[in-house]
Amino acid sequence: EEIHEVNGMVNVAILGFGTVGSGVAEVLTTNGGLIDQRVENLVRLKYILDVRDFPDSPYRDCFVKDFGVIESDPEVDIVVETIGGATVALDFTTRALKAGKSVVSSNKELVATHGYELLQLAREHGVSYLFEASVGGGIPILRPLTSCLAANELSQVTGILNGTTNYILTRMIKAGLTFEQALKEAQENGYAERDPSADVDGHDACRKICILAALAFGQHVYPDQVPTQGIRGVTLADVAYADSCGYKIKLLGRAIREREGKLCAFVAPHLVPASNPLSGVEDVFNAISVTGNAIGDVMFYGRGAGKLPTASAVVADVIDIAKDLKTARCAVWGPGSRDLVVSSDILSSRWYVRGTASMDKVRAAFGEISPLARGGAPAGETAFLTAPMTEPQVRARLEGMELHSLIRVLE
Ligand code: HSE
Repeated sequence: EEIHEVNGMVNVAILGFGTVGSGVAEVLTTNGGLIDQRVENLVRLKYILDVRDFPDSPYRDCFVKDFGVIESDPEVDIVVETIGGATVALDFTTRALKAGKSVVSSNKELVATHGYELLQLAREHGVSYLFEASVGGGIPILRPLTSCLAANELSQVTGILNGTTNYILTRMIKAGLTFEQALKEAQENGYAERDPSADVDGHDACRKICILAALAFGQHVYPDQVPTQGIRGVTLADVAYADSCGYKIKLLGRAIREREGKLCAFVAPHLVPASNPLSGVEDVFNAISVTGNAIGDVMFYGRGAGKLPTASAVVADVIDIAKDLKTARCAVWGPGSRDLVVSSDILSSRWYVRGTASMDKVRAAFGEISPLARGGAPAGETAFLTAPMTEPQVRARLEGMELHSLIRVLE
């Protein structure tokens, strides 16, 4: 500590030199001068941990393979964890915090599954655990949620939380690409997770809504408590029907405060009306809409994935900590509980339905509906919007009909 103050040096170690980790090194280097000015200290990248060799990297002198080197070096103040996953990353984060080092993370899986215990651990050891980059990539959202909106009782958080799926849906909507073609493009652009299932099946969005819900409503929400549906089932036919009535299909993560401190949280594709600003969020962009009792609605928008946007949020956390190493900064939320999250079955909304049934049969079951049409529809295909009702109600009315798509409409 003493030596640090004399030297005015803050030492950083990056764990994992993948897309985000290499972006963090790049931002720390490119913007080094202004970062040092803002921190009023020299911020130095001392180590990069990776199992691979990078002999031609400008950072080649920083590379180590043994986390023990970082853990036992008293000069290391801040550890940046950009490994991902919840195994090695959990071990290294735990050890770094116990060694009295602050940790900055972009790892939504780790925060969503172990955030509560890691925050406790950070507090016990008087260090910071920050993870702005874990939700919304480069978008400032976690700090605004906890500081700028601190005066509000929040009632709802709804977001487009996954860049890859938003990119895929946008390419399906605007270029008529198939799901596979659009996924391949997203992967080539470095947006997708290594395992595309994390993106397209909604797990990544699920982890992010867990983190947002914990910050907004004060209790840990675990991914396995949040019903999650991805976009594999969304077809170009659904896109065309949605377009015919002025809607865009978007994958939304939602957390809604219910009575008696319960929470309704889920991830699912939605039909979003043109009047809602979320409908205009395209490509890899993310947006998070928050409702509070003083602010009303507020929306945060920006690049939700990608090397430098994500590094922007990581390095901002590093700067925050480096400005004042003695003051620990940690979000505070309580432990989770098994009965916290209630089923989205209680939420009433309109529904988009596509299936094979006669309009007479549909009208007999549903009463008033809004029929939809598209060019090139096969004989017997029926699509319509229902009046507001819950999912069990809509499913009961659909009994005996061949159902192809059922998507909630965002009010
Ligand atoms: N695969 C994620 C996405 C990266 O597409 O949004 C950012 O978390």
